[in-house]
Amino acid sequence: MNAVQADQLGKTYGKTGRALEEVSFSVEKGEIFGFIGGNGAGKTTAIKILVGLVNPSHGSALIFEHPAGTREAKEKIGYLPEVSNYPDWIPSGRLLDFYASLSHSSPPGKEWISSLFSLVGLSGKEKIPLRQFSKGMMQRFGLAQSLVGDAPLLLLDEPTSGLDPQAQREMKDLLLSLREKGKTLFFSSHQLSHVEEICDRIGILKDGRLVACASVTSLLDQEGPFEITASPGTEALAGIAPVAPQARVAVMDGKVLVPQEQLIPALEFLRAKGVHIQGVEKKRPSLEDVFLNMVRKGPGANEKGDRP
Ligand SMILES: Nc1ncnc2c1ncn2[C@@H]1O[C@H](COP(=O)(O)OP(=O)(O)OP(=O)(O)O)[C@@H](O)[C@H]1O
Ligand SMILES: [Mg+2]
Repeated sequence: MNAVQADQLGKTYGKTGRALEEVSFSVEKGEIFGFIGGNGAGKTTAIKILVGLVNPSHGSALIFEHPAGTREAKEKIGYLPEVSNYPDWIPSGRLLDFYASLSHSSPPGKEWISSLFSLVGLSGKEKIPLRQFSKGMMQRFGLAQSLVGDAPLLLLDEPTSGLDPQAQREMKDLLLSLREKGKTLFFSSHQLSHVEEICDRIGILKDGRLVACASVTSLLDQEGPFEITASPGTEALAGIAPVAPQARVAVMDGKVLVPQEQLIPALEFLRAKGVHIQGVEKKRPSLEDVFLNMVRKGPGANEKGDRP
């Protein structure tokens, strides 16, 4: 059974504000699915549809086989919104206890609240109201709030936003530990290195359309930048932009990294300049390379056999 099944989701705000178009994907139970895309690509809109906060203009979504927005679907979801405005004068422990009382039929007890505070790295902060929290502490509280109902599916809209590098790493480890506990995680992020490290599969949105949806391995497999080592190449390498505009040049090392489709023109250019090419090596791309490439190129590359 899939944790999420989105079919042909579309959303138009007002008459013309098209935020999502024909977005279909599935999230398997127990996996971490990363949703990436530039600002305004439609990530938050899609998440809000899954939560049941926004009605789709087209298509439908199922949460553990229940239509998104129904009580049965909502019971399966823990949600971290992109922007939150919690009551900030109440001691944070009491506030979490309040959220717990909304989702548990009987009070879950102090131990549950302290275990969540400890899980998100806020041990001992239960008496402090949120107005005294830093942004990073707020983000941790938000995650605790999403966990309070012990739901099997977590929909997290930018959980690492506003965190310092150390806290981002801790959040990453925390998300991995939640998968170990059997949760399914669906989160949006602009932190591509973390998405690459922890996600099983990734969806890439561009202007409201899903331009890729595949496992991290297959995404990183298909788009290889090539590293050309050249000598003596300083001037030629520095002037390669007209034929390989996305090239990244390391002039000091006599190396240039070019995307696959610019390899041939780049080699021809360097040869025409009389540069001796010492080697061409396919590099493993980072998710950032793949993302930038796809966002420039547009739709394409769905993993074989993977339902988009
Ligand atoms: N309530 C709304 N009314 C009108 N347009 C909206 C509304 N919410 C979002 N939009 C528009 O829908 C598009 C997608 O927005 P969305 O917030 O889903 O993007 P996002 O991918 O989450 O971006 P970001 O990375 O900046 O959070 C944008 O063009 C945005 O202006
Ligand atoms: Mg957003």
